[in-house]
Amino acid sequence: CGIVGVIGKADATQVLLNGLDKLEYRGYDSAGIYVNDQNGHDYLVKRVGRIQALKDAVGPEVQGTLGIGHTRWATNGGPTEANAHPHVSNDGRFYLVHNGVITNAASLRQQYLTDVELHSDTDTEIVVQLIALFAAQDQLDAKAALRKTLQLLHGSYAFSLIDRDHPEALYVAKNKSPLLIGKGDGFNVVASDALAMINETDQYVELKDEEIVTLTKDAIEIETLAGDKISREPFTVVIDDANVGKGTYPFFMLKEIDEQPVVMRRLVEKYTDGHGNVVLPEALLAALKQADRLYIVAAGTSYHAGLVGKPLFETLAGVPTEVDLASEFGYHIPLLSKHPFFIFLSQSGETADIRQVLVKIKALGHPTLTITNVGSSTLAREADYCLELHAGPEIAVASTKAYTGQIGLEALVAQGLGIAKGNQKAAEFDAAHQLGLAAAGQQALIDQKDRLHEIATDMFKTTRNAFYIGRGTDYYASLEAALKLKEISYVQAEGFAAGELKHGTISLIEKDTPVVAYISDPVTAAHTRSNADEIAARGGKVLRIASASQATDEDQLVVNDIDPLVSPLLTIIPGQLLGYYTSVDRGYDVDKPRNLAKSVTVE
Ligand code: G6P
Repeated sequence: CGIVGVIGKADATQVLLNGLDKLEYRGYDSAGIYVNDQNGHDYLVKRVGRIQALKDAVGPEVQGTLGIGHTRWATNGGPTEANAHPHVSNDGRFYLVHNGVITNAASLRQQYLTDVELHSDTDTEIVVQLIALFAAQDQLDAKAALRKTLQLLHGSYAFSLIDRDHPEALYVAKNKSPLLIGKGDGFNVVASDALAMINETDQYVELKDEEIVTLTKDAIEIETLAGDKISREPFTVVIDDANVGKGTYPFFMLKEIDEQPVVMRRLVEKYTDGHGNVVLPEALLAALKQADRLYIVAAGTSYHAGLVGKPLFETLAGVPTEVDLASEFGYHIPLLSKHPFFIFLSQSGETADIRQVLVKIKALGHPTLTITNVGSSTLAREADYCLELHAGPEIAVASTKAYTGQIGLEALVAQGLGIAKGNQKAAEFDAAHQLGLAAAGQQALIDQKDRLHEIATDMFKTTRNAFYIGRGTDYYASLEAALKLKEISYVQAEGFAAGELKHGTISLIEKDTPVVAYISDPVTAAHTRSNADEIAARGGKVLRIASASQATDEDQLVVNDIDPLVSPLLTIIPGQLLGYYTSVDRGYDVDKPRNLAKSVTVE
């Protein structure tokens, strides 16, 4: 979910709607705004569906100088208008938007609100009813009632609260969920990220967990839950918001697939000296050199990019590397090595599952690096070091250029570290050259779009399930290719280690079950080819994708040769395009698949 709030701007409605547009990547199943003109008029508008549905419902009368807004990714309660935010207390006094999950909402309800009628299934409504209860019962002002409520809450929250009886202030509070203040001249803004406020200001004030802030049009008053005042200077972030249009593309995903060769070249430009030598910040390199083990922690597509990082770092830098799912790692932290170093991979830099790990690792005092596409994001700010992908905004929910960007940057960092450690393998691996090969090879595949569309129609248009197989880095590409298909076309697709299929899953192969076999790695090509034959012998419909040096007449698609350590930079392109065209063939909204969000901001 994403939240936004504003005080002191004549066009509050517009500020909120613009902000919500930018926050839609955090969820898009319902949205709402509350606007108050600080002069006795106010408006609450909520709609199920996209921000556009909300915009269509907001009439010209909805004007004011104070307001809050929300775009939702349902956690507690389905996507209905009643469950959409802002939530309002029964006395009509308090309006609240929330990102996060309150884990003890049910017991708070039992303890305090048995007599209160609720109108939604959300934890947020319980919070706003509690605020109203304490305000009425204990004669508390809004801030005191909010503070009393916060002290009872377990879980994560970013809140923005308006007291209709005293519309001269906006109250915000956060714990675990991100929230930034945007400082203006005669106004203030608040939002889940900086992007949502870039039309208003470039001055931001960071908030820490368990802080409450009172915003008026001229002041930002930060205090801790215990009531201690805090002074904090604003910082400047200039964000390049150009290049977020679709141009002539039908969907962002296709545009972003096409941009991948440019991303490869830009990484070389940003992270090498023009002569093929990798350039990394000194302090980062020094910290990496101390590490006796790397821990790559990520979610979703970024996790799949992390898997490719393991052989890269182990081969080029000679450091044992473990790759973990963020949602698992934080609660089952393995026995760590003596000098661990943590790498967080995240396109958005906002994924809550990753942030909870970062917080725990920082508390243990271990060094941390975030690799992200959003330099102003929470994970970028909070880690010791940050490297940016420079891939340009990625809008489609299904990640494409961030995946190849992450692998490209991992290759550069692994080589840079390997060289710094005097590792021979790193000297032999020329990351800049490999990324150049990747850019050319990607372009050659992108140029075969029409063919890939035909293959997608033939293989997947009507199927209910599909498999992708490969070994080593081909296996990692299989996992990502299967995710691309399933998340946007709703075909049940699985990536499998080619050699493992015969140990159980092959029983699912029936006549015409589609199977994509990646055969790019010279070391395992012959074995994977046999596995593909085993599937064909059982009636499966096999699409073989091979590298030039391994290709035979039976392979339908050939990718250029490249070092197998980075082969997913090429093999994933047909995976992305097959997923894309299957979704198009089935008539789905490719960029915004059902049930998903671009960035999941709750654990
Ligand atoms: C969500 C998105 C995925 C993405 C994952 C991790 O689930 O739908 O596409 O891979 O989050 O996101 P991150 O921004 O941390 O890379």
